Order: sequence, then C-alpha cells, then structure tokens
Amino acid sequence: MSGESVSQPVPGGPEDTPHAADDLVVLSGVNKHFGALHVLQDIDLTISRGEVVVVIGPSGSGKSTLCRTINRLESIDSGSITIDGKPLPAEGKELARLRSDVGMVFQSFNLFAHKTVLENVMLGQIKVRKTEKKAAETKARALLDRVGVGTQADKYPAQLSGGQQQRVAIARALAMDPKVMLFDEPTSALDPEMINEVLEVMQQLARDGMTMVVVTHEMGFARSAANRVVFMADGRIVEQATPEEFFSNPRSDRAKDFLSKILHH
Ligand SMILES: Nc1ncnc2c1ncn2[C@@H]1O[C@H](COP(=O)(O)OP(=O)(O)OP(=O)(O)O)[C@@H](O)[C@H]1O
Ligand SMILES: [Mg+2]
Repeated sequence: MSGESVSQPVPGGPEDTPHAADDLVVLSGVNKHFGALHVLQDIDLTISRGEVVVVIGPSGSGKSTLCRTINRLESIDSGSITIDGKPLPAEGKELARLRSDVGMVFQSFNLFAHKTVLENVMLGQIKVRKTEKKAAETKARALLDRVGVGTQADKYPAQLSGGQQQRVAIARALAMDPKVMLFDEPTSALDPEMINEVLEVMQQLARDGMTMVVVTHEMGFARSAANRVVFMADGRIVEQATPEEFFSNPRSDRAKDFLSKILHH
C-alpha cells in the first residue's frame, strides 16, 4: 500500500485546484485482482463535487470493476478509496449507509419485480434512511415526476418500457439523496428510441450539479455532459482529458485505436 501514488497531470482538468474539501471521491493506488488477472492497476482518480466524469475504454478494461469498488460491491486488494473524506466501511450498517450515499444505476434495471414503481422508490428511503412512509411517498412521486414517469407510479416494472424502467431506477437511487451517482452503461440494454429519454434525464442531473461517474459508449453524452473523460485500458487509466481535448487529440495509441473503432462504425 503506497500513500504516495504518482499522480498524473490531467491536461485541462482540475489538476490546479487544490486537493481540498471539494474532492468527493478519491481513489489512490487502488489495485484489484481476480485470481491472476490484475483488473485494476494503481488507479489514482479524484472526482470533485459536481464533476461529471465519463469512463470509456475497451471491453474488459476494468470500467465496471472500477464503479463497483466505489460502492464496495467489490473489495480492493490495496490502496484506498474515500467518499467525502471518509474511507469506505467494510461491512454492516455503515456500509449500507455508504451504499445509499453512492447511487448506482446498472445496465439491467434491477428493480424489485414484485413491488410497484412507487414502492421501488419508497423502499430504500424507509429501510435505510428511516424516512416516514408519507414523506417517502411524497418524495418518490416528486422524483418520478422529475424523471418523467409520474403517471406510471402504480404499475409494476414489467409493465414499463426499458427506458421507463431505467428512469425509475434513477429515481430510486436519487431518493437516497446520494452524494455521487455511478452509471454503468445505463443505456446499453435499451432499444435505440429509448436511449435519449434516459440520457436526457442524466443530462439534467448533470446540469443540476450532481457528481456523476458514467461508463458509457454514448460519445454524444460524453461530449456534452462530461467535464472529464477517463480512458481505461488493461486495468489502467491510460489517459484523461476534457472531452474536447480527448476526442480531438487523443494522445495514446490505445485511445486513438479505440476512438477510431467506435467513431467510424
Ligand atoms: N467477478 C469476477 N471474477 C473474475 N473475473 C472478473 C469478474 N468480474 C470481472 N472480471 C474480469 O475482469 C476484467 C474487467 O472486467 P470489467 O467488467 O470491469 O470490464 P469492463 O471494462 O466493464 O468491460 P465491458 O466494457 O465489457 O463492460 C475482465 O477481464 C473480466 O472478465
Ligand atoms: Mg462493464
């Protein structure tokens, strides 16, 4: 475990802002193995409050694993991760609270199938945040309106389209008042016509100042919403830059190769 990780300069990024209270998520020297596979290699990544970071990279490069370590769905072998200055708790109530501070939206919507849309958005508030039922319902309805599915509140997830279900999943995460939201390919399982309605909700969240880490292949979203693009390959952060810089002037061969594949398809 090394406290003095070599931090790489972030061209155009927040490298000249002091390491301060505005650092919301800080990974330093993070390593993770799956057996012989070194899936995260010396990851140093600092995400500021209100920042939107888009993570891209080839399949298997460790993007999902990175997200999953941030809310401790995966443990790490060495290094440290702090959220708002606090190290990730290992287990128990503390961990449950941390998980609700870190909202996560996956490719598969993961809604509770036997609960209504409204109940899905109320449940965590009641169980983890100990919110009173009436207040939880009021908040759930407001959030469902905000993501454009207020009229679906009494339906079950299976009765909704994929895009609607994903927006419910976003509302459910938001109901916990998370400090940061992680999105792992939130639109890759959706039919094309539903992708935009989900991206628009995410764009609005970004404009509202939510701190977000987004793994996505939607380069339009990266260009318009991201403050920073982080490019991963083989378990490492190879390059990070503003979207303008990254897309117009990728520096590494890996990034050039990756971009030529996804942009000319
Ligand atoms: N639970 C696990 N056990 C063993 N190996 C795993 C596990 N989860 C992921 N891996 C491996 O770790 C590597 C990184 O996986 P990860 O899912 O983080 O990549 P990714 O960048 O999200 O890829 P994709 O773009 O395909 O989603 C892959 O080689 C994957 O097979
Ligand atoms: Mg993945």
